[in-house]
Amino acid sequence: MPIVDEPVHPAWLPPGAWRPITGRRVRVTGEGLLVRTVLAELRAAGATLVETDGDVEFGLGGDPALDGEGFEIVRRDGRTLIRAAAPHGLLHSLFHLLREAPAGRYRPAVDRRMVDHWDNVDVHPVMGQVERGYAGGSLFWRAGEPRRDLPRVAAYARLLAACGVNAVALNNVNVHATETRLLTDRLAEVAELAAEFRRYGIRVHLSVSFAAPVHHGLPGADPLDDRVVAWWAEATRAVYEMIPDFGGYLVKADSEGQPGPFTYGRSHADGANLLAGALAPHGGVVHWRAFVYNHRQDWRDRSVDRARAAYDHFTPLDGAFRDNVVVQVKHGPMDFQAREPVAPLIAAMPATRLAVEVQATQEYTGQQRHLCYLAPMWSSLLRGTDGPAIAGVAAEMVAVANTGDDPFWTGHPLAQANLYAFGRLAWDHTLDPVTILDEWTGLTFPGASPALRATLHAVMDGSWQTYERYTAPLGVGFMVRPGHHYGPDVDGYEYTPWGTYHHADRDGVGVDRTVATGTGFTGQYPQPWASIYESAADCPDELALFFHHLPYGHVLRDGRTVIQHIYDTHFAGAAETAEMRRRWQTISDEVPTELFRRVAGLLNEQVRSAEEWRDQINAYFLRKSGVPDEHGRPIY
Ligand code: GCU
Repeated sequence: MPIVDEPVHPAWLPPGAWRPITGRRVRVTGEGLLVRTVLAELRAAGATLVETDGDVEFGLGGDPALDGEGFEIVRRDGRTLIRAAAPHGLLHSLFHLLREAPAGRYRPAVDRRMVDHWDNVDVHPVMGQVERGYAGGSLFWRAGEPRRDLPRVAAYARLLAACGVNAVALNNVNVHATETRLLTDRLAEVAELAAEFRRYGIRVHLSVSFAAPVHHGLPGADPLDDRVVAWWAEATRAVYEMIPDFGGYLVKADSEGQPGPFTYGRSHADGANLLAGALAPHGGVVHWRAFVYNHRQDWRDRSVDRARAAYDHFTPLDGAFRDNVVVQVKHGPMDFQAREPVAPLIAAMPATRLAVEVQATQEYTGQQRHLCYLAPMWSSLLRGTDGPAIAGVAAEMVAVANTGDDPFWTGHPLAQANLYAFGRLAWDHTLDPVTILDEWTGLTFPGASPALRATLHAVMDGSWQTYERYTAPLGVGFMVRPGHHYGPDVDGYEYTPWGTYHHADRDGVGVDRTVATGTGFTGQYPQPWASIYESAADCPDELALFFHHLPYGHVLRDGRTVIQHIYDTHFAGAAETAEMRRRWQTISDEVPTELFRRVAGLLNEQVRSAEEWRDQINAYFLRKSGVPDEHGRPIY
């Protein structure tokens, strides 16, 4: 029996969002699956479909330079004319009309804009149904079985398409035994899901285990062994027989216990090229993750630096990957912290196709209990505000999904904006996060009043920096509870093998990653960033403790000492959170009751948690340093 959830929140596609279409005479020419999708959407939106002289006309025959997904909007004599070179462009243009996009030419900044699910088929004993999932169970599987709520999958595909996403990986990068079968005897489950996504122009990818051949009876998985090559070729042929537009494989290899080519003395290029070879005849790609580091490090040994690992492993392989390999790099060198510099690997692989991965699921940014609008972080990384820009270098953008079977899709209803913003920023790297929030507000809350808009800006625009203020200071990162990663635990990871340290002592705090006296990590950056980060005087404050071990009395660029900055930001962050809660109460009449209540409840938890963070961090540093707060506020 399919498992069906009722009722589900419409997110950014409620009926009211279709007002620019409803009641209009619309003409559509062209054929094929995606054109049929456009027609079905128009009908559902209450458009009148006509054969000639529409107020709105969708047609093919646009400039081939618009490629597969671009389109042009022309407005003439009160009519709107849309031309695309291919049906996929027509589908995107439809959703652009809902945003009341002005006339002009539109093309995505990168060809693939992907969402990676960390969904398990079986419930994992520690990680559950969805690893780092904060939005209920999986949309695809429950307790080992396919859920088969295909209307919900279709509704999801539609939301993704409407923000510009065109690829989805269905299962967790940590591939356990059951999930290896998705590639073989459970492929029909994948095909069923792929059919729903296909109608919205989204190709389906699978995470696979490098050791899959071993799970299926081979003695090993050596990428240079002919039997292994033949196994992958045959498995992949069978996948394409059932799913002709299958996207490809996503692989986490030699990372956090996942198998990989190192077992056989082979390189990551050997490993990636093996799978790329199997996929190439069918037009598929392999996303090969660069998240490779030693998770069994000796915390006593300060010469080892986890931040260096991806660059050290992968830059020697630049140019060695086949054309259909995409090396997928996390945006920062560590692990999705609220603040990290951009990963230096991103600027160091000119001969390799790169995808940059961000984390919409809020593992380290409040777990969808805290409101944390992430578009400002992603936008500043794309633009290169404090480091080398991602825009223009990354060939693809990827987000770890924040969705699940929660009625609001994302647990925290306002976390929907993160998924929406990811899609929009991946499509257009230059969009301003404030503008994206306006767009999202207009779609999600049709007819939103100025007061509602103002309140959403007040509680969301600065929420990432608020979160940063009450958690780990000045870019040092972590300080979370080991395991589940929610809430403060300053020394939780300090003496563990995970490579995530802050090195606080009575004199100072931070990790010396300089070339002069530290791990040499700053040397992985191109100029001028290598010099900027190397110098404690020039390094941006928010990254000060990521790059330097600084005395508590060190004066930052903003004129405050490190210790006073810690105290001030923690008091400010907690106070801002209380203000967010107060503001939210002012719009109780402006949003649906259930949504209002859900957010109000979560803000109570956020205020509680922010105060806990404030007090633990401040108490820890007062006790270590013995330096009192200049303003004499309570520290315990
Ligand atoms: C983090 C996260 C893991 C995840 C890993 C990854 O370390 O805590 O759950 O598997 O990232 O990105 O592979």
